[in-house]
Amino acid sequence: MTFKRSALTEHFLTDLVEEAKQLLGQGKTADYIPALAAIDPNQIGIAVCFNDGDIVQAGAAQTPFSIQSISKLFTLVQALKLYQDELWQGIGREPSGHRFNSMVQLETDHGVPRNPFINAGALAICDRLQSRLSAPTFQLLELLRKLADNPALHANNQVARSELAHGSRNAAMAYLMKAFGNFSNPVEQVLHSYCHHCAIEMSCVDLAKASVFLANKGISFSGEAILSADQTTRINALMATCGLYDASGEFAYEVGLPGKSGVGGGIVAVYPGHFSVCAWSPELNPVGNSLISTWLLEQLTDRLEVSIY
Ligand code: DON
Repeated sequence: MTFKRSALTEHFLTDLVEEAKQLLGQGKTADYIPALAAIDPNQIGIAVCFNDGDIVQAGAAQTPFSIQSISKLFTLVQALKLYQDELWQGIGREPSGHRFNSMVQLETDHGVPRNPFINAGALAICDRLQSRLSAPTFQLLELLRKLADNPALHANNQVARSELAHGSRNAAMAYLMKAFGNFSNPVEQVLHSYCHHCAIEMSCVDLAKASVFLANKGISFSGEAILSADQTTRINALMATCGLYDASGEFAYEVGLPGKSGVGGGIVAVYPGHFSVCAWSPELNPVGNSLISTWLLEQLTDRLEVSIY
């Protein structure tokens, strides 16, 4: 069936948010970063940005939240622009089938992370960015401000410090990669950027706008070429196979769109040729993805009969 844009209205999204409220209390906010555990869990938002820049939204769609691992999508964009295919020397493109912060494969795979969306892979990407950029976090923020058309975007330093203080596992992964010769910069410097990337705060509206170029062959809603059409297709393929960690298969089955999640409760998904969508609610399922955001996206794609497959 062809997608009917006229069915994707504010009314449609508002009904979804209302229905989703019955699921509140079934998940658990991320508590391994103390500053994230303090968030009000009873928040639900969703925003869609069409390729022409039109927005439809419902619930807390304009409330900024911690983007966490959704930052991995945009650091990959920066790194692909800088390194092109050379980026894949030392970073894989296979789903891991393990938790986002798992270390088990890193040892047997000789320090080569499975993909750029698990923590080890994103740390390797940040290492590559550190080698070529003078101020990685500032430059990521500049990209996001431009893509979202929101000059006020910033990182929450308290969240970044909280994660840095509890980041032994990420440090261990970075040191292991360094031991295998797959990490060039000082670990502490890269962790500092990585934690500040994760601590950037954006709303559903910001994230839907910032990711819509992935639905539009690399062209942002303001008409700027961010990536080539070919690079965009490849990023979408990585999101489809690896974007939801070890729930990527389930997400492909139930939602049917390339997506990227974060432990702040946000999930971005892309319907190539049409729109980008971001859903947010802080309570997570056992895998570390937002329970309600996943449900919202399942319902949206089911009811509108949207899927890339
Ligand atoms: O590295 C971490 O643990 C977090 N700052 C980011 C993890 C994350 O968002 C994984 N998502 N599901």
